[in-house]
Amino acid sequence: MHATPWHSDSSSGTSPGSSPGAEETRQTQPAAIQGETPANEEQIRPGDLSEFVGQATVVDNLRVYLEAARKRGEPLDHTLFSGMPGLGKTTLSSLIASQMGVNFRATSGPVLEKAKDLVGLLTELEEGDVLFIDEVHRISRVVEEYLYTAMEDFQIDILIDSGPNARSMRIHLPRFTLVAATTREGNLTAPFRARFGIHEKLEPYAVEDLVCILERSARILDVELDAEGARVLAGRCRGTPRIANRYLRRVRDFVDVEGQDRIDAKRAAAALDRLGVDPHGLDSVDRKILEVVARSEGTPVGVKTIAVTVGEEERTIEDVHEPFLIRAGFLEKTTRGRVLGPAAEKLWGNGAVTRQQGSLDIEQSDVEEST
Ligand SMILES: Nc1ncnc2c1ncn2[C@@H]1O[C@H](COP(=O)(O)OP(=O)(O)O)[C@@H](O)[C@H]1O
Ligand SMILES: [Mg+2]
Repeated sequence: MHATPWHSDSSSGTSPGSSPGAEETRQTQPAAIQGETPANEEQIRPGDLSEFVGQATVVDNLRVYLEAARKRGEPLDHTLFSGMPGLGKTTLSSLIASQMGVNFRATSGPVLEKAKDLVGLLTELEEGDVLFIDEVHRISRVVEEYLYTAMEDFQIDILIDSGPNARSMRIHLPRFTLVAATTREGNLTAPFRARFGIHEKLEPYAVEDLVCILERSARILDVELDAEGARVLAGRCRGTPRIANRYLRRVRDFVDVEGQDRIDAKRAAAALDRLGVDPHGLDSVDRKILEVVARSEGTPVGVKTIAVTVGEEERTIEDVHEPFLIRAGFLEKTTRGRVLGPAAEKLWGNGAVTRQQGSLDIEQSDVEEST
């Protein structure tokens, strides 16, 4: 596989970290980016369940479970949230704690390596507290096994001393709620998954919900955003509130610097164009991925090849770019690799891509804004 420098984007091939391409890509990553958490996100994170927009089924279910638990005077069952980054898993988890009137103790999978990391957290819990483990699919096996008895029996056996003096000690824990979030539910073992009484999956948001979220954020950030401007941002943010809010902040920057006081459709579109986000919400990496696949003219392309060619990690391609590209119909996964999906075929079928020297830059007129 050879990478021909035919891509119209001048940033291709430059090192990540400094190029405008890298910056542009970070903007479209659904995961939080540097400098974004916690202050920026906390400012606009809903503090009450009534401010949480969309995900109606999930929220309705949760209301019932919360109400029932409160009536019985018991902690909520252990809860597992799954879904792509930026859809509101952390937000909902903290809302559970505030609705139950208990402490919210947060940690994350990669941090929990050894049993003692977990024991420390568990023994500090108070009755009813929420222990939140983000990216729970990344906890180690030992920690997972400790969690089993902690979750089921609210007790853990720890080993004191080593060698001949080694003995195990049982520690009783307050009844707590483990709330876990994962972007890869499939990576959890079946016995672990089975220990969560409540499973809720978050889906990408409809444009109308994103418009509501953006209007709320605009009020908090004290920026004037009109309905059409909100629709442009909502239509390009991949159904993800975190990205929507980030675009709002960036567009506000452009508008501020230009001395304007309002974000309308035109200004929103112009700012997103500058960020390299096209009317479909595709960023430069998405476009590069589609180019690689389009150039193979119907022969499926493996994710390794894609990763090498576009200069991103396989994991990033699979976790960040592909879910959106597949959902939007730009890409399809086959057993032999990736092929263009119907939406991409329609816009830039193989022939078209080759003829245009590979430019996947979409003409504004090709697409309807905010679909
Ligand atoms: N349903 C929602 N309503 C309003 N804001 C939301 C909603 N879901 C997410 N957000 C906002 O999006 C950002 C990312 O949400 P977060 O809960 O951190 O996502 P996740 O944990 O799934 O990655 C937060 O700033 C939050 O305020
Ligand atoms: Mg989170």
